[in-house]
Amino acid sequence: MSKITYVSSKGVSQTVDVLDGDSIMEGAVQNNIDGIVGACGGCLQCATCHVYVDEAFLPKFDEIEPEEEVMLASTAAERRPNSRLSCQLRVRPEFAGCIVTMPDSQ
Ligand code: FES
Repeated sequence: MSKITYVSSKGVSQTVDVLDGDSIMEGAVQNNIDGIVGACGGCLQCATCHVYVDEAFLPKFDEIEPEEEVMLASTAAERRPNSRLSCQLRVRPEFAGCIVTMPDSQ
């Protein structure tokens, strides 16, 4: 279980416990956090789980796979250097305290 903080595009933050092994998208959906939709359930088909990862945590996550790279090209909001699809970010103990910011649209 790791604490993950989700920050809305308006700056409102919520910190919740997410099970290790679950994705950051699943943590948001299970905790009713607005701003992450996860319409495809994590199959890399929708890009509605786009987040901006806090720069300090970015190197801790696995690198972007080609399939995620393709979907990141179709996000509704601006893609930034710290953009990731949160369904691809599986929580591990070293991610405790991670902060992700949701874009203003998905
Ligand atoms: Fe659909 Fe992440 S939930 S791409």
